[in-house]
Amino acid sequence: MHALHLIISACAVASVIGVDRNNFKTCSESSFCKRNRDLEPKDSRFHVVPGTINIGSGRVTFELLNDEASFVGEVITLVDNTARLMINEKAPLHPRYVVKDSLDGEPKTAPLKLEEQTDASVRVNFGSEGRASAVIVFKPFRVDFLMDKEIVTSLNSRGLMNFEHYRKPALVQHDPPAPTEATEEHHEGEEGQENHEQPPAEEHQAPPEPTYEDWTETYKSHTDHRPKGPSSLGMDISFPGVEHVYGIPEHADSLALKLTKGNGAHHSEPYRLYNLDVFEYELNNPMALYGSIPVMMAHNAQHSTSVFWNNAAETWIDVSNSLAKSGILSMLSYFHGSDETPQIDTHWFSESGIIDVFVMLGPKPHDLFRQYAALTGPTPLPPMFSIAYHQCRWNYNDQEDVYGVNKGYEDHDIPVDVIWLDIEHTDGKKYFTWDVAKFPNSKEMLDKLWSYGRRMVTIVDPHIKREDGYHIHSDASSQGLYIKNHNGGDYDGWCWPGSSSWIDFTSPDIRKWWAEQLSLSRYSGSTTSLFTWNDMNEPSVFNGPEITMHKDAKHHGDWEHRDVHNVYGMLQPQATGEGQVARSGGRDRPFVLSRAFFAGSQRFGAIWTGDNTADWGHLKASMPMLLSIGLTGLTFAGADVGGFFKNPDSELLIRWYQAGAHQPFFRAHAHLDTKRREPYLHDENVMQRIRNAILARYSRLPFWYTLYYHASKTGVPTMRPLWVEFPSEEATFSLEEEYLIGSALLAKPVTEAGVSSWDVYLPGKDEVWYATDDLSRYTGGQTITLSVTLDRIPLFQRGGSIIPTKERIRRSTVQMLNDPLTLTVALNNQGSAKGDLYMDDETTFDHHSGKYLLRNFEFTAGKFTSRNGDTAGSYRSESWVQRIDVIGITAQPATVTLTLSNGSQRQLAFYFNASHSRLVIRKPDVNIGEDFDIVIA
Ligand SMILES: *[C@@H]1O[C@H](CO)[C@@H](O)[C@H](O)[C@H]1NC(C)=O
Ligand SMILES: *[C@@H]1O[C@H](CO)[C@@H](O)[C@H](O)[C@H]1NC(C)=O
Repeated sequence: MHALHLIISACAVASVIGVDRNNFKTCSESSFCKRNRDLEPKDSRFHVVPGTINIGSGRVTFELLNDEASFVGEVITLVDNTARLMINEKAPLHPRYVVKDSLDGEPKTAPLKLEEQTDASVRVNFGSEGRASAVIVFKPFRVDFLMDKEIVTSLNSRGLMNFEHYRKPALVQHDPPAPTEATEEHHEGEEGQENHEQPPAEEHQAPPEPTYEDWTETYKSHTDHRPKGPSSLGMDISFPGVEHVYGIPEHADSLALKLTKGNGAHHSEPYRLYNLDVFEYELNNPMALYGSIPVMMAHNAQHSTSVFWNNAAETWIDVSNSLAKSGILSMLSYFHGSDETPQIDTHWFSESGIIDVFVMLGPKPHDLFRQYAALTGPTPLPPMFSIAYHQCRWNYNDQEDVYGVNKGYEDHDIPVDVIWLDIEHTDGKKYFTWDVAKFPNSKEMLDKLWSYGRRMVTIVDPHIKREDGYHIHSDASSQGLYIKNHNGGDYDGWCWPGSSSWIDFTSPDIRKWWAEQLSLSRYSGSTTSLFTWNDMNEPSVFNGPEITMHKDAKHHGDWEHRDVHNVYGMLQPQATGEGQVARSGGRDRPFVLSRAFFAGSQRFGAIWTGDNTADWGHLKASMPMLLSIGLTGLTFAGADVGGFFKNPDSELLIRWYQAGAHQPFFRAHAHLDTKRREPYLHDENVMQRIRNAILARYSRLPFWYTLYYHASKTGVPTMRPLWVEFPSEEATFSLEEEYLIGSALLAKPVTEAGVSSWDVYLPGKDEVWYATDDLSRYTGGQTITLSVTLDRIPLFQRGGSIIPTKERIRRSTVQMLNDPLTLTVALNNQGSAKGDLYMDDETTFDHHSGKYLLRNFEFTAGKFTSRNGDTAGSYRSESWVQRIDVIGITAQPATVTLTLSNGSQRQLAFYFNASHSRLVIRKPDVNIGEDFDIVIA
């Protein structure tokens, strides 16, 4: 749902050409961005004060000084090759915001060992097997992190660290007019930030008296009062030996980040992280979008490292590259590397808060997922229905319309798990209410859908209509639950309902109150089969600066919106999900979709990439966007299937379903002004292809669910760039249109019109890949040209894997719970394969108390085995193994013998297809929870 529908309609040109860049700041229009970006690499102005180094257990503390103020710094060593650098003012005039909501509890510290201490530096060792070290260099101040004795990350090695300490406005000094180049240089270096607050040069002639007004910043008609004055901070972070960095979503840009500064820069603006509602966003652009995850991964063939810049204020990141000069490196005796190494240099700066950087030292991609999940939490296991197929539209008009959609799916035998209602279902955009003329009996509607095993989702946004008598507004205004404006009154802005105020989700008490609104008694007309969509939570404020909230608005604890902007949106789905859980008495898992997100959002549900457009470019962009988001912890993510704006032609719609069915969150959605496009409305040949794509998703749900189980344990994304599984294969480093689902399936959705062939890179020289449809066998380490039709996208099962599926066509996942399983064994060059399967009741939290089942499958030397993968699991499934396909088997067997755990044996019927090297083993008919062997002889 986009914000500018109403506003832009007055400005037809803008809506025709897409994003109106004029609504959004460039770096030079944001004073702190410009100040920081203009800094040039040099020796840092900061140095460690001699004698202040204190080495404790799990932390090294020190004082830092620049020319103006004192700071306290800490390097905290954490478990699992992770460390944290925190720098704050020693005695700030106002407290500075430290983001806590991103973290899943206090990070666990690890003991450190002092390796070396001199007058110039201190070096400590920490982490697993003593492989990680940190070196703090005193003057100029820098911190290097080493893995296996190699520098993998350097902080402030280019001296761009900046920390604008809070000060009193009277201290602002004004410059003499129009400085020459030379004096300009001088004053930047010597006097620090006050000068940067100057108005543009032409106004230097008559400097105004220094007052609070000096500290205000205007953007269009909006004034940011900045009562505490400038407070930005920044730091450079370099990755020696690395040419590829990834992450820092959300941007509609490439997976491998582009250079934004210096030689070879592709973008002229830095990547921006500031949650914004961007109308008709543009592709290949570093502009900010709805969510922000300040996490970057650096990768080369030897190692992977990542950094997490834990700051919720507006943040910008420049990316450039350089060759590390041998001279500088050789000064550092601890450096063991070649003389000249390419490196990526990044520069991060935020408007407020503190410097708080986590460094994860890997050394491999899977280590990084685990290390980041230890800090911000993994994705909890979603309920099965939520990873199935969702049908949404702005809007299904009334109850009859919803029944019609349900019937359309029924009549055409197309599964769907959830039907969604957008804002029009409410009474005048008052969330938690129903338009009773259109939805006279919502409970009846929900119960009817549920009788088909289908759930519903309704939208609940964070802006609350300021209308007397509306219970949410009455509570919120009388109990002080709204965000305040800079004068202390309720913040009042314009959104869907007209005049609105915003719930302050940064307060735990207010989140508790919100959670209660989800209860069946408070949310009238709701049932336990109703779930929630939190949209517009950047927050989108139609008449606010950059379509969002004023930065000087006030939150709980007297924090400014400036401090919490990027974390605000995440706290709404947190509260919403807690409400859903409480509603079921703690029994059922929640499901919430959010548009805004931040580091840690993975703990609270799914996100989607917002208001995309029905064109081929947006379909293609969904791949790198979802990969970037998944790399930074948020694997439960999708893009609107079909495109939100505009009408896709049938070819694009088919291709989009084929892609969406192979992405982690699978929801079709469309704008109010688009033609209806539910699958059953199309010609038979289009409908069948869409149906086949949806069926492909449903059949692989046991596989997807198992991937989500692993994500919940180790943070590993379900949808992965190829380099995650082939970390030393450089040919994979910038691939972004193809990806792996888990480690076993490789997908490359077709993203162009009218193609009859599609190139695919198959990684791994020693690997074998089988096309999932015709079972053709390919060896890895090459690009192949695959012929495709409208029925086909390149999809390959990796030799060496075993994938579980359920092949019965059903209405929804509810009916599939006990359906029989098929296991597809794809043999590698050694004739073996491995796989696993996770199962539970698919909806409740009972898996937390042992009610789950994990099976390990293996095929070696002609023998298939199924074994219990976790003896703590006590879930008893009703599902049976109905078929085992073995692909890549070259000789026809004589017998196939099943052996059960009690020793009883049985010959199994089988079918061998020599031209496709495929053996189909029929009806083992063993309960999936049983151990068994099958010997092929
Ligand atoms: C072994 O278990 C199977 C399945 O539970 C059962 O049908 C069979 O009778 C058992 N055989 C023996 C020898 O106990
Ligand atoms: C072998 O399998 C392929 C793919 O499923 C099928 O098209 C073909 O007809 C089969 N051949 C035989 C002899 O059954």
